[in-house]
Amino acid sequence: MVDFVDLHCHLLFRVDDGAQDEDAMKKMIDIAYSDGIRHICFTPHFKIFEFEDEEQMHFHMGRLDRRFKVACDYVNEKYPDLKLYLGNEIMYHADISDSLFNNRCHFLGNSSYALIEFPPDCTGFEIENTIIKLLRKGIRPVIAHIERYSAFIKDPSLAESLRESGAMLQVNARSVTRFKLGRIASFLKSCFKKKLVDIVATDAHNDSSLPPRLSNAYEVISKKYGQEYANDVFCRKPLSILLNEKKF
Ligand SMILES: [Fe+2]
Repeated sequence: MVDFVDLHCHLLFRVDDGAQDEDAMKKMIDIAYSDGIRHICFTPHFKIFEFEDEEQMHFHMGRLDRRFKVACDYVNEKYPDLKLYLGNEIMYHADISDSLFNNRCHFLGNSSYALIEFPPDCTGFEIENTIIKLLRKGIRPVIAHIERYSAFIKDPSLAESLRESGAMLQVNARSVTRFKLGRIASFLKSCFKKKLVDIVATDAHNDSSLPPRLSNAYEVISKKYGQEYANDVFCRKPLSILLNEKKF
């Protein structure tokens, strides 16, 4: 059994639309652990437009730290071999680098990688522009759930060119098991076939419809594209990000 790494999930309680209380978070941690996940990076949403001013953002950061400590205390006691990290899923806005460097939101763990989300109808031009700007500032972007963006589905070569530029591409575990036919399924198939996908993560929001489980998707990828590649995208690559390794 391999140790899974979940780089994108909403387990931290009462900070976004993920776990709604401490018990819900603990239940989700239990599920993740029993599924074989041994590294979890909490990535609560960061949407700059939800805050009125700088003070509110810094207050929110303090809240994340306090909730994260509750999670760490629980895990240290119950699952000493489970490692936790704090990050954010950062919604696209004008100056993401400014937000990161001014501590309004988190990189992934203590790395120089950041998880970036775009609106589903964002244009390829806007996505490319944002990624290039981040790379120029020394931030290594991980693009969250690439299967959600119409720009990628319409033009799959965008995924390839962004990856060549230095972005890393993440797909949700649920999309791997859910989409069997249609445009999203064929987009994902071509990405996995070319080994363009760097990370599969849960994007878990609850314990039922979006639970923190990776094992089912791991089986699918392992069977279709080989165990070595499955180990890369479920374990080695996401861990190399959290350890801030330069190259995989
Ligand atoms: Fe998410």
